[in-house]
This record gives sequence, C-alpha cells and structure tokens, in this order.
Amino acid sequence: MRRAQQLGRYHLLDRIAFGGMAEIYRAKTFDASGHAHIVAVKRVLAHLAEDDDIIQMLVDEAKIAGLLKHPNVARVYEFARAHGEYFIAMEHVDGKDLRAILERCRQDKRPMPPSHAAYVGAEMAAALHAAHSATDKSGESLKIVHRDVSPSNIICAYAGEVKLCDFGIAKATLSRVQTRTGVIKGKVKYMSPEQALGRKLDHRSDIFSLGSVLYEMLTRVPPFTATSEMGLLIKVRDAKYRRISDIVPNVPPEIESITDKCLARSRANRFQSADDVHRALSSFLRGTMPNYSRSHLGRYVRKHFSSEIERELRMLEEYVVSAEPSSDVGENLISNVLGPNAEFSRFSPHADGTQVEDSEAETDVRGKCDQGASTRVDDEDEERTEINASPQQFETNAIEQPGGVRQAGTAILDGAPTRGRIRSMPAEIDEELHNAPTLILDGRRR
Ligand SMILES: Nc1ncnc2c1ncn2[C@@H]1O[C@H](COP(=O)(O)OP(=O)(O)OP(=O)(O)O)[C@@H](O)[C@H]1O
Ligand SMILES: [Mg+2]
Repeated sequence: MRRAQQLGRYHLLDRIAFGGMAEIYRAKTFDASGHAHIVAVKRVLAHLAEDDDIIQMLVDEAKIAGLLKHPNVARVYEFARAHGEYFIAMEHVDGKDLRAILERCRQDKRPMPPSHAAYVGAEMAAALHAAHSATDKSGESLKIVHRDVSPSNIICAYAGEVKLCDFGIAKATLSRVQTRTGVIKGKVKYMSPEQALGRKLDHRSDIFSLGSVLYEMLTRVPPFTATSEMGLLIKVRDAKYRRISDIVPNVPPEIESITDKCLARSRANRFQSADDVHRALSSFLRGTMPNYSRSHLGRYVRKHFSSEIERELRMLEEYVVSAEPSSDVGENLISNVLGPNAEFSRFSPHADGTQVEDSEAETDVRGKCDQGASTRVDDEDEERTEINASPQQFETNAIEQPGGVRQAGTAILDGAPTRGRIRSMPAEIDEELHNAPTLILDGRRR
C-alpha cells in the first residue's frame, strides 16, 4: 500500500510525467456526495515556485486556459497555492499522449492509419477553432494562440476522445526549452516558420503546427529534423520537407494535400481557419471511412498499450488516501475568472463529501482575463525572440513579459525589417520576409 500525499483538494497518486517545469500526477478528489474523481495535477517545480514573476505569468495564462470549455480541450480546474506549493488541477485524460503513440509507431515501423490521423487532426482542429474564436464577456476576441501544438500536448483517451492540453501555459513552457543550450526539444520541431523567426503570431501558426503533427502521424517521422537546435530552426523557417508520398507511397492524396496546405510556409497560403482544417479532414474521413467513430481510435490505442493499461490499473489500486485529510485546501488563484459555479469548488479532499472553503479569499490576482493575458496575439511583449533589422541593431533578446519576466532565448536576425505587427500579410510580402537572408545568433552567448 502507498499513502497518497495531499495537495489542496487532491490526493496525489502515481506520477505520470516529470518535466523541466512540473511533475504531473494522477490525483483523486471527492464531490459533495463523496464520489471519487480522478484529475491530473501539475505541480510546479520548487525552484520555479520561488520566482514570483514566473508564478504570476502562469496565473495569467491559467486564467485563459480556465476560460476554455470544449470537449476537445482538457479542462483546467484551478491554479492553486497550497501547503507552500503551486499546482494546476486539470481534467485527467485517461489515455496516452500522441508522442507515446508515435513512438510506438516508430518501434513497429508503421505509421498511423490515415483514418486515425484524420480523426485526431480533425478533433485537434476543432479544439483550436474553439480557442481561436473564444471571446471575453464583452464579446471581444481573446485571440488565443496555443503556440505549443505538439504530440505531447495531444492526448488520445482509451475511450477514443482526443484532447488538447496546456492551453495558455505554452509560453511559459517554451521559455524553459529556450534556456537549455544545445538540447533540441520537440517544441522547436513543431514550431511554425514565423515562430522560429520570432515574429508576432496569429492563429495560423497553430495551423502549421497541426500540419507537422499530421505529417508525423502519416509518416511516423517529423517533417523537420536536424542535429542542432539552430539547424532545426532553419529547417522550420524554410518549411521544406520530404513529400509524404515519397515516404509512404500509398498515402491517400487528399490527406497529403490537406497536410501540405497546413504546412505552407506563407501564412496566406495555409488554411485560414482551424475550422476549415476541421471540415477538410472530416470530409476526407467521411469519404474514406463513413462508419469511423471515436471507438475506432480507442481500440487502436488500447491495442498498442494493453500491458501499460493493466499496470496503471494495478498501480492505482495500491494507493490509500488519508483517513483524516487536512481541510486546508489552499487558494485558487484563478477563481475570479471561473465564476461562482466552477467545478473546483465542488471538489473536496474528504471522502465523506465534506465540502471545504478556500483558505483565503483571492487577493493578489493582477490583470483580468481580458487584459494583459499573455496568450493574446496583440500583446506587444508576447514574443520571446527578438528580430532586428540588422545585426548592429541587436541589443538583447531578453524580452519583457507582461508579468515582468525577462526571458533569454535564441534570436534569429534576418535582413528584413520585421518589428511591429504582422497580421494578415499579403502572400508576396510574407514570401519576401521568408526569403530574406538569415543570420542566427545565440543570445545566450551574450
Ligand atoms: N491532463 C492530463 N491528463 C493526462 N495526462 C496528462 C495530462 N497533462 C499532461 N499529461 C501527461 O504528462 C505528459 C507531460 O506533460 P507536460 O505538459 O508536463 O510536458 P510536455 O507536454 O512534454 O511539455 P510541455 O511542458 O511543453 O507541455 C504529457 O505528455 C501527458 O502524457
Ligand atoms: Mg504538455
């Protein structure tokens, strides 16, 4: 028997993953009738929790994530502080992330069948469309861009649902990637060219990233690979990749051209909305396999991970929760955007259904969901990477973040004047910028 550690309203069970920013646990909590619920708890690593600016940035970004309610987006319940620790409680998706599934495909030397790739892609496009078109209470667009659409953030449930995770927390995570010199993280692999160039992003950046994920599902290899981070950034910037049908000759041409359109180097040549991608993939799926349903994907995932599923179930049975849990559930730092009936307020660490109150009223939440939220496209300071017109103008690549955080990173300096907003740029200008000579400097050497 293992004793589950309590964190806020949750009892931590097994650790699902461990990353540079957080540890992820499966956790148990109870509702008012004493029914148990499994959630995912992402506990911020201690050294990051000491940094007020990082925490503030995470709070701001979790507020955006907390606003998104869509069947293809993993719900964020709370960003809380309890027992001196910070953590995010979110919907637990009982399944495997696409990174693990693709790894299995590579081991088996078989790509995902195009029908599964189309279904996963269509579900992700639906999630992205919901985010891209989300508005605040006054109806103004929140202009959310995920920025980190990548296999590890896409979870395929054993029951066949597909959910996108880490909305809003993407930027904080990416900054971590950049601080690791010499390590090629999957994140760079799935960036859009404009992201690799450090330009202002709009929703079409996520469409490119979704194209990279589609490509990898269809071929089992990512479209852009290199032996160095710089090399990878150049590959992504140029958006040149091997044709899907050269790798998988029998791939249906329709899904190849949908993927190619997502992966157009110029934003103007891509699908202009995630909804268009959703419709194209759904129509392909209807045409090739009209009876396809989510249970097909569920079976596929369960078949590939049957031994792991057994192990996970056995592991969960080993945990016991404390008979007398603490009633100190801490403070939800994003409760003001979640409203009075938020799910988290029904969660309790007590198995007998005893409900608990936040230990403190929310006192220090700077910024509202519709102000200064760092996932907004029109946030002047949102980019981590600085682009200058010439190397002489290169001052620093530490960018002031809305929460006051300065982040170091890699800078790509190109010959084109690119500061300022780039939105809905005509194709030919976009092309020109992409074709400009690029000089890459690593800002960390400064
Ligand atoms: N809500 C969730 N439900 C189930 N599993 C999850 C959930 N969130 C994350 N995971 C699992 O934990 C893994 C690690 O997640 P985490 O977000 O910490 O790292 P990452 O996705 O590799 O990188 P990033 O920090 O850029 O998102 C995921 O790939 C997934 O397998
Ligand atoms: Mg993630």
